[in-house]
Amino acid sequence: MFDFHKNQAMNFRASVGPKLFGAENISVKFGQTQALKGIDFNLHQGEIVFLTGVSGAGKTTFLKTLGGFLEPTSGRVVRPNPRKVFTAPIFQDLKLFENQTCEQNLLSSFDPSVYKNRKEFDQDLMELARILGVNNRLDLKIKNANGGLKQKIAFMRALLTRPDVLLADEPTAALDFENARKMFDILNLYNVKQGLTVVWATHNKELAKKFTGRMVHMDKGKLIYSGHACFI
Ligand SMILES: Nc1ncnc2c1ncn2[C@@H]1O[C@H](COP(=O)(O)OP(=O)(O)OP(=O)(O)O)[C@@H](O)[C@H]1O
Ligand SMILES: [Mg+2]
Repeated sequence: MFDFHKNQAMNFRASVGPKLFGAENISVKFGQTQALKGIDFNLHQGEIVFLTGVSGAGKTTFLKTLGGFLEPTSGRVVRPNPRKVFTAPIFQDLKLFENQTCEQNLLSSFDPSVYKNRKEFDQDLMELARILGVNNRLDLKIKNANGGLKQKIAFMRALLTRPDVLLADEPTAALDFENARKMFDILNLYNVKQGLTVVWATHNKELAKKFTGRMVHMDKGKLIYSGHACFI
């Protein structure tokens, strides 16, 4: 995979490529609740975007609509063919298999058409486990794992599918800053090595400001800001 320590000074990024996803005037209604109100948004290959907004602003609804997990009530999302551009989600409720161990959950990401062989997958798995400090907890069943460990496993499971795009909904909600930083460093490395594109939703604007990336801010279902984090 990569040597994490050699690459730790993350002042570089993959260059931004062509448009991958386009949301055109999308709105989503749940009964009387208008969760999204006429959002336009473009995501380009190689971008790392932080999607911020207070609870209820519409971040989850937006990510699900963007990823094709939810149909907009009006407007449309133009997204690439999933066979060409593979998108992995990390849902807010994680969707892990509770009765399986952490390792068993991770093994579900192994796709022989993506890896040269199983050894290469195992190396990636162990490298991520080491960086995130979970290598001695892989035998634990998910139902016995704490919230932080579950989030790390969901994060690893998504990355081990080797996605082109990662849509992560509050991936660090149960983690402290140091662990959030480790995840961010890993995403940066995948961005540089594999051109990974990321949308990372968080209600924690201050956290997003500590990392480098484009910030997109939502308020009451609207997208009200897109740009550098220091101007908001
Ligand atoms: N399945 C649903 N049925 C009805 N209302 C919903 C549903 N999902 C979301 N909503 C409503 O849509 C609005 C946006 O919710 P959403 O979950 O997208 O916000 P969020 O920014 O992700 O919030 P949080 O930070 O708490 O995760 C809220 O008013 C919410 O109550
Ligand atoms: Mg949410």
